[in-house]
Amino acid sequence: MSQKFHDRGDHIIYHGDALDVLNSSIPTESVDLIFADPPYNIGKRFSQFEDCWPSETEYVEWSYKWIDECIRILKPSGTIYLMTSTQAMPYFDLYVRSKLSILSRIVWYYDSSGVQAKKHYGSLYEPILHCVKDKKSYCFNTNEILVEAKTGAKRNLIDYRGVVPKPYNTKKVPGNVWEFPRVRYRMDEYEKHPSQKPEALLERIILASSRKGDTVLDPFSGTFTTGIVSKKLGRKSISIESQEEYVKIGLRRVLGHKEYQGEHLSSVTKNTTMKNGRSAKHGVEMGDLFNVNC
Ligand SMILES: C[S@@+](CC[C@H](N)C(=O)[O-])C[C@H]1O[C@@H](n2cnc3c(N)ncnc32)[C@H](O)[C@@H]1O
Repeated sequence: MSQKFHDRGDHIIYHGDALDVLNSSIPTESVDLIFADPPYNIGKRFSQFEDCWPSETEYVEWSYKWIDECIRILKPSGTIYLMTSTQAMPYFDLYVRSKLSILSRIVWYYDSSGVQAKKHYGSLYEPILHCVKDKKSYCFNTNEILVEAKTGAKRNLIDYRGVVPKPYNTKKVPGNVWEFPRVRYRMDEYEKHPSQKPEALLERIILASSRKGDTVLDPFSGTFTTGIVSKKLGRKSISIESQEEYVKIGLRRVLGHKEYQGEHLSSVTKNTTMKNGRSAKHGVEMGDLFNVNC
């Protein structure tokens, strides 16, 4: 059983299981963009839910079910971005390539000043698949996501390859390695959740792959980064989350609710003073504290 919350209808939150909600409440070919950032089967604790399947096979089989549902609800011109761990991504890649066109295999890279690996190379990226249903007809708003092209903008080089030499472009479409800092404790957007994705990451995805008024769906919403960024960018949103603790974050961030079942909803109160009385440093990576293996 799921519970539905909404404002005038532009932003909807479901408190429930992703597979159940997708299956029972979301019509076929009704969504323009999906961002799916599921539990990775690496043993994180998400409130009452432990991210640990009995075997990798069972994790992958569960994933194929919700991926199929996402494909069903996606419009023919729609786009889906899929995340999972580096170790599970090859399964996702092989599975979806028979059903969708994979346009990009994106690496979200971040520097980490937290707990460092000692006996192997530390993990500093998460993979993202960028897929569309129809590679001849899909949304990609090049001009919305341009970044600085260092050759033209910083080094001021001239391209002599044509008949008439001309300066290199100062802007370009980003490549498939994206550097965005992880959400840190001192950042305004920080919420208490072990796997919060940065708003900047979702901004690029939503700007590139949807238009104003489009519907963006996130089946595993966590801190509702997708919902809040969709709202800021004038898109509609549908967010699903199984854990009540995080649904409360969504009600506050996306729907602007002040109260839930008599409880006042407020953002995280941050302790900026360390035990020795000095101020906490910028860049403390709380996410690393939760990085426990399954
Ligand atoms: C990796 S986190 C998503 C983080 C999110 N992208 C953000 O920016 O905060 C995965 C989320 O899926 C939720 N979850 C786990 N199993 C679920 C299920 N079956 N249905 C819906 N949500 C689920 C977890 O509680 C967790 O918040």
